[in-house]
Amino acid sequence: MIDPWTFSSTVDYENIMNQFGIKKFEDIKDNIKDLSLLMRRGIIFGHRDFNLIQERIDKNKNFICITGMMPSGKMHIGHKMIVDQLKWYFKHGGNIFISIADMEAYATREKSFEEGKEIAINEYLVNYLALGLDLTHKNVNVYLQSRSKPLNDLAFKLSKKVNLSQMKAIYGFENTTSVAHLYVPLIQVADILLPQTKDFCSPQPTVVPVGIDQDPHIRLTRDIAIKFKDEFGFIAPGSTYHRFITGLTNAKMSSSKPKTAIFLNDSPKVAEKKVKTAKTGGRESLKEQKKLGGRPDKCVVYELLLYHLIDDDKKLEEVYKKCKAGTLLCGECKQMTAIKIRDLLEDLAIKRDGKREIAENILD
Ligand code: TRP
Ligand code: SF4
Repeated sequence: MIDPWTFSSTVDYENIMNQFGIKKFEDIKDNIKDLSLLMRRGIIFGHRDFNLIQERIDKNKNFICITGMMPSGKMHIGHKMIVDQLKWYFKHGGNIFISIADMEAYATREKSFEEGKEIAINEYLVNYLALGLDLTHKNVNVYLQSRSKPLNDLAFKLSKKVNLSQMKAIYGFENTTSVAHLYVPLIQVADILLPQTKDFCSPQPTVVPVGIDQDPHIRLTRDIAIKFKDEFGFIAPGSTYHRFITGLTNAKMSSSKPKTAIFLNDSPKVAEKKVKTAKTGGRESLKEQKKLGGRPDKCVVYELLLYHLIDDDKKLEEVYKKCKAGTLLCGECKQMTAIKIRDLLEDLAIKRDGKREIAENILD
């Protein structure tokens, strides 16, 4: 069982894929034109029905890409991955939907709706804009769950065909689980299916880019989509799954643990320092590292480069090789990475300027 609310990142991806029938992204990679960095590098490792999206892109036809964010804490660099993916889908003609899961934050993270909205604006929307996703474009739709009447109406309708034993089987809910928490997955199911209703895009292939922790919601949604196929004509939504970036201390990167994460709103100086104190795949001593080489596959600093900081595959490969050969040492490597992080955050800080008002207007 996967519990989306207490998920830890020490996961056996392979095992989960086999258990739940997630397909390897690797196997369809060659058919995709203009592979994104995350796809090329195997960070997106799994999918369901991505071929439907692929066909739409190839034929220049519309499709839906939907995601959601829980406004419960700070936005960290791991969350940037979603924005990178949204930008890719936008570029390839997707209708983008972004749900701000304030109902989920209320039900599961003790956040009031006012707090949820403020976090959504200040942490997420402003950074999404700064990262270059045009939230004001007509093909991008951003909304607060609690404020969307069509969403709530759809969730209620869909809830008719789900029963308690199914919810327990998927999520492991117990007798002490609040009814709000019990209902929250239905809101997410509605997030994913709402774009296919006739007041929005009507039925279209849909992709939901998520971390594996969200797969229970995807399974529930696909099941419900089929149950309501006659009434709404839903096409069962597909999905992609990305690996989680490791936290700086080797634990999960988490908004609630500042030492594990680089926050997009961190000052560039602080972020630089965080990189310099991060756990690496280096050896005990310099001598040993020169002899045996480093371990980039076990290195958080390397992950930062891999996920976010080096676009050029050749340059990245160079780092990898030099690390393994023991010719690049961790001090120098951290220094280079710290500068890249600093530059990224400095650039974002400049681009955030003036975005708050735009973000506020989007939600009004
Ligand atoms: N549950 C998701 C999270 O914890 C947020 C979310 C809400 C979502 N609605 C969604 C994700 C729809 C994907 C699609 O981050
Ligand atoms: Fe990590 Fe760089 Fe050290 Fe290699 S040299 S282990 S990539 S910090």
